[in-house]
Amino acid sequence: MQRIKPLMDHFVVRGERYIMRVDFNVPLKDGKVFDDTRIKKSLPAIKHLIDKGAIVILLSHLGRPKGKVKPEFSLRPVASHLSVLLQQEVFFIPFTEDKEILHEYIKDVLPGSVVMLENVRFYPGETQGDDNLAEMWASLADFYVNEAFGVSHRKHTSVYHLPLKFPVDKRFAGPLLLKEIEAGRELLEGTSRPYVVIAGGAKISDKVKLLEKLLSEADKVLIGGAMATCFLKAKGLNVGKSFFEEEAVNLAEQLLKEYEDKIVLPVDVVITLPNNNISEVAVSNVPDEGSIMDIGHRTVEVWRPYLLSAQRIFWNGPVGVFEEEPFSNGTKSICDIIAQAHQEQGTFVVVGGGDTAAAANKFSIKDKVSHVSTGGGAMLKLLEAGTLPGIEALSK
Ligand code: 3PG
Repeated sequence: MQRIKPLMDHFVVRGERYIMRVDFNVPLKDGKVFDDTRIKKSLPAIKHLIDKGAIVILLSHLGRPKGKVKPEFSLRPVASHLSVLLQQEVFFIPFTEDKEILHEYIKDVLPGSVVMLENVRFYPGETQGDDNLAEMWASLADFYVNEAFGVSHRKHTSVYHLPLKFPVDKRFAGPLLLKEIEAGRELLEGTSRPYVVIAGGAKISDKVKLLEKLLSEADKVLIGGAMATCFLKAKGLNVGKSFFEEEAVNLAEQLLKEYEDKIVLPVDVVITLPNNNISEVAVSNVPDEGSIMDIGHRTVEVWRPYLLSAQRIFWNGPVGVFEEEPFSNGTKSICDIIAQAHQEQGTFVVVGGGDTAAAANKFSIKDKVSHVSTGGGAMLKLLEAGTLPGIEALSK
């Protein structure tokens, strides 16, 4: 991985301007920030700068407004929330494509201030690598900081093209970005074994490249969730009315041939039946009218020793529909076991992916593992490709 400069090691001078890409793509409810985890994780970088009298200009996306100004995707409520967290005003600058107006807004901003620009995805050029847009943003600051791991897999203007407008010694990685990269690096390059991966979630076809890579690197890959359904089907088992992707079954068949010794599938599953009955059956006994919703208790017991003897664990994708109580046992049990492995054996445990992080939150293990990634797609891409456009742009 390339050499990148940590923001926290940099000597900050009062009055300097730092344009910082953050990932404040947070859920809103009734016009208010509903979950501020991502915002809070960027506070150390922001405070580091403003405490020394620097001016911080924040750039973020929110949702996918597709290059249009859509009020429901405005970052204004996020700026208000940040003001409360920082206990100081955050100056919010409305959308403008006029460089002069933008400069007018920030020209009198005092040292130690925080400014937030409107949603970068209101500009059609953000997703298109627009040079003029990169120039306009670059003209506002002396330095660039990437503290937006969650979007660093996107080769977007504010993530990739903007940093390239600054000399390489004026581009920095924020502490959150570095922590995420270190976690990814430990999974990619660590030598401690066994290395065990838990893979779940719905979409196997999206993740096939990553799955192949993980299978080649890990000692065991425990497969649950809808992903397991494809593998069970590929083994010729009946999966009843369970959801699975037809094309993924062929992929699963190939992977089973190549990595039979590494793939560990469920031995039993929790199913629902049309009369709303719930039952737990062996994977060989799923009836035609049954739908698989979770891994069963015996599977948890089969998986437990793999996890407790692991030295490194990466978990992506819940193993059941954990949001619904009757189908939460599998995912909750995985949470408990990996937390135990980390706390009692010091196992290096990384949880990555939006739904998986939500499960870690729900079952209160986010402080009981080595790292819960703030990026879903970004962590998966980092493990697949070894680097990300946003990381590359810091040292190119
Ligand atoms: C995320 O929430 O995963 C990141 O903010 C990236 O968002 P995106 O998938 O819309 O690029």
